[in-house]
Amino acid sequence: MKIAVLPGDGIGPEIVAQAVRVLKALGPQFDLEEAPVGGAAFDLSGHPLPPATLELAKKADAILFGAVGDWKYDTLARELRPEQAILGLRKHLELFANFRPAICYPELTAASSLKPEIIGGLDILIVRELNGDIYFGQPRGIRTSELPLFKGAREGFDTMHYSEPEVERIGRVAFEAARKRGKKVCSVDKANVLETSQLWREVMIRVSKEYPDVELSHMYVDNAAMQLVKAPKAFDVVVTGNLFGDILSDEAAMLTGSIGMLPSASLDKNNKGLYEPSHGSAPDIAGKGIANPLATILSAAMMLRYSLGMPAEADRIEKAVQKVLAQGLRTADIYTEGTQKVSTVQMGDAVVAALA
Ligand code: IPM
Ligand code: MG
Repeated sequence: MKIAVLPGDGIGPEIVAQAVRVLKALGPQFDLEEAPVGGAAFDLSGHPLPPATLELAKKADAILFGAVGDWKYDTLARELRPEQAILGLRKHLELFANFRPAICYPELTAASSLKPEIIGGLDILIVRELNGDIYFGQPRGIRTSELPLFKGAREGFDTMHYSEPEVERIGRVAFEAARKRGKKVCSVDKANVLETSQLWREVMIRVSKEYPDVELSHMYVDNAAMQLVKAPKAFDVVVTGNLFGDILSDEAAMLTGSIGMLPSASLDKNNKGLYEPSHGSAPDIAGKGIANPLATILSAAMMLRYSLGMPAEADRIEKAVQKVLAQGLRTADIYTEGTQKVSTVQMGDAVVAALA
């Protein structure tokens, strides 16, 4: 089984190294090949997603991804910025379905900024569409305004759109996922304002007829942002577009105490996937050895389950993570009084030991 390992920038290399150790500890069956991506690739070859990296990602059975981005690339032209690497991989490999679970581990309830009764036992799944929406819509750019009031001024513009088949396929992914969980889908849109959302909602209703056992509800995105902090446990599966999903998935992740705990999967129609922590490259703590590797280790577990057909091994990793949490080991982001603060590598050591 060939796994493309793309560590990227910031804390990416540190956390991916720990996930790689965990995979190697499972046995020799993985052929791991590493390639540069993001700012690291730009520094080496002048492009955030070099052709060789894209080729490797295409031929691999799955991709383990760290994170990309650093302030030092903020002044580059958009097409050369590190973020283009992850957007390019999603688009070139048609990874349209993004799974972002937000699970609150009982041991970490105290690390959340919300009251324990609001988030205790939280287990929700955000299904975010990744290939469409205003992220990729054309036309886009910066031009001279034609608006009478602002004529001649510079104006930025982007285009939001979703076609019916795009909404149908992400809708089916969400309903299928809900079937294996709490059998509820909440579709989040802005249908009171946007045409794109009006069509999105119509299509979701139509797709829902194929899943009479799953309950469909709709929510405007502003209300969803509010309900996520008010009563997050009322949700089961949330399905939404690329932009709203970007924002709501960060919010949902933070409910659990630390975004450093949450894995994600981005899948194509054949369940080939890219697996990455839900958090970013955190350049402020890069190189300090304090980043939490658990989201990446749990992403490797998702990879074994969804793309590589190894659910028993995925279970082993997830149980090992639960065990180290139960032992009281915490990286700085999830540290609370009375627990033991450990480094990135020490956390990796503990997970590897707990696998045995
Ligand atoms: C994410 C990130 C990306 C996105 C960035 C890095 C382009 O925020 O995966 O949520 O906006 O999708
Ligand atoms: Mg994001």
